[in-house]
Amino acid sequence: MNLGCIYKRSLEYLKDKKIPTPDKDAQYIIAHFLKISPHEIFINRDREVSPFKSFLIKRAIVSRGKFKPIAYILKRKYFYRDVFFVNNKVLIPRSDTEHLIYAVEEINTPFKNILEIGTGSGAIAVSLSRLYPVANIIALDIYTAIARKNIKRLGIKNIFLEKKNFFKWMPNNKNGLFDLIISNPPYLSEKDLKNLGKDAALYEPKKAFYGGKDGLDFYRAIAEFAKAGLLKLGYVILEVDYKWKKVMHIFEKEGFGKIVVKKDYNDLERVLVVQKDF
Ligand SMILES: C[S@@+](CC[C@H](N)C(=O)[O-])C[C@H]1O[C@@H](n2cnc3c(N)ncnc32)[C@H](O)[C@@H]1O
Repeated sequence: MNLGCIYKRSLEYLKDKKIPTPDKDAQYIIAHFLKISPHEIFINRDREVSPFKSFLIKRAIVSRGKFKPIAYILKRKYFYRDVFFVNNKVLIPRSDTEHLIYAVEEINTPFKNILEIGTGSGAIAVSLSRLYPVANIIALDIYTAIARKNIKRLGIKNIFLEKKNFFKWMPNNKNGLFDLIISNPPYLSEKDLKNLGKDAALYEPKKAFYGGKDGLDFYRAIAEFAKAGLLKLGYVILEVDYKWKKVMHIFEKEGFGKIVVKKDYNDLERVLVVQKDF
């Protein structure tokens, strides 16, 4: 079958399944398996595609038709400077989350002891390791197998994984060691969860999203932990959503005075930067 025909069939299939961006998704999948860029599909319409490659493309398109996220189908997601292995045991790292790393870059301080809470695929910890190759980075999560795989694949040496529940770990580790605490914690409330997109609701792990009834459980725990667990003048950097003002108040109530909110490329408040001034 030729490329033009494969594209047309894939597009029609995804349209029929009501996938929101059928053209973009079909192009991305086909380009991936043929190792070409999406625009080359249109200039090489007559190119013959081998039966094996056609089979791989068809299989991926059928999965996408069931709303499986492309990152899970291809088992990879680009984040900051690296490509991460992902499967449906970990959240797919989002490009919005890269703003946490940009916030760290802006502070431009040689952090030495870093804690990441809820590392998932390891995307944030690995990206920080690229910036701070000699810092001690502790990356904590209840599930660490995929982060471990990524850290090994990417040859990272300064990340120490802790397979722990943060709420149980924190009472025994408030010894004022860290100069940076960073997290994209689970922050969806019960109500938010009901509005989760179909891809995420069907395939991504619930534990990566659910932050308690009001979505703020992790922020409250991190604020409490940071009072003692963070060095004076250390930073807490957190991903937030529309509830960002509530997160700010949680930190203010715990005595943090220096709080700045940063926006993402869609002009939405996305990152809270808190500096401990006591
Ligand atoms: C929103 S995801 C963030 C994943 C990754 N850091 C990223 O930004 O792509 C939140 C992570 O918190 C982890 N998590 C959930 N409950 C936890 C707990 N009690 N203690 C530690 N980690 C937890 C989840 O397993 C998930 O990996």
